[in-house]
Amino acid sequence: MKQKIIVRHTRSTDIKPLVELQRRVYPEIPSWRKDLLAHQLEVFPQGQIVAERDGELVGAASALVVLWDEWLEGHNWKEITAHGSFDTHNPQGRTLYGAEVFVHPHLRGAGIGHALYRARRKLCKRLNLKRIMACGRLPGYHLYADQMPVDLYAQKVVWGDIHDTVLSFQLHEGFNFCGTVPDYIPEDHDSKGYASLIVWLNPRYDSSKPTRIPKGDVL
Ligand SMILES: CC(C)(COP(=O)(O)OP(=O)(O)OC[C@H]1O[C@@H](n2cnc3c(N)ncnc32)[C@H](O)[C@@H]1OP(=O)(O)O)[C@@H](O)C(=O)NCCC(=O)NCCS
Repeated sequence: MKQKIIVRHTRSTDIKPLVELQRRVYPEIPSWRKDLLAHQLEVFPQGQIVAERDGELVGAASALVVLWDEWLEGHNWKEITAHGSFDTHNPQGRTLYGAEVFVHPHLRGAGIGHALYRARRKLCKRLNLKRIMACGRLPGYHLYADQMPVDLYAQKVVWGDIHDTVLSFQLHEGFNFCGTVPDYIPEDHDSKGYASLIVWLNPRYDSSKPTRIPKGDVL
C-alpha cells in the first residue's frame, strides 16, 4: 500500500533526525550544525518544512526571505544564508530564497520533492511574495565537465538533452533557468562548485500589499 506523505513545518524535535538525514544525502559536504537549525526555526519558522512518511522524516526544504536587490550582483550559499544561520532573513523582502531541499536517497522519484516544492509555492503565495529564487546544485555536471562548459551543460538540461536530477526536477516544477553561478558551494564536487540560478513567479502576487508573515502554521 502507498504510504501517505505529510508535509508540515519543522519542529525542534526534527533537528536530530534532520541532521542524520542530511549526512546520508551529502556524505561529502559538512552537514548543518544543530544550533544553526534551531536558529533558523527562531528566525523564520514558517520557511522550514519537512516531509514525513509513516512517522519518519524523509525530506526537508528550508527557505528565508531576502531583498533580492542586495544579492543580485553575486553571492554564494554561505553569504546569502549567513553560514546557514538565516540571519540574512529580511521580512521586508519580496523574494523567498530556497536554501536547501533534499529527499532520502532511497525514496527519490516518488513525488516527495514535488510535495515539498508544492508546499514552498503555497508558502510564497500565503506570504504575498513575488517569487521564489534559488541556486540549485548541478550534480550531474561532473560527468560532462571534460566535454563542455557548465553553461552549455545547463542549456542542454533546459533543452531536454541531458537529465540532471536537480535542475530537470526544478524545471518540471515550473522554475525558469536564469544562468549559472560559480563557487556557490565549493565543497560540492559533483556540481564542480557550480549552481543554476532559478526563479518561479507567484501568479497571485499583489504588489499593492506588503509581505505578510502570519504567526503560526501557514501550510
Ligand atoms: C532534487 C530532489 C530533492 C528531488 O526529490 P524527489 O523526491 O526525487 O523529487 P520527485 O520524486 O518529486 O521528482 C523527481 C523525478 O521523479 C519523477 N516522479 C515523481 N513521482 C513519480 C512517480 N510516481 N512515477 C514516476 N516518476 C515520478 C518526477 O517527474 C521527476 O522527474 P524529473 O527529474 O524528470 O523532473 C532529490 O533528487 C534530492 O534530494 N537530491 C539530492 C539533494 C540535492 O541535491 N538537493 C538540491 C539542492 S539545490
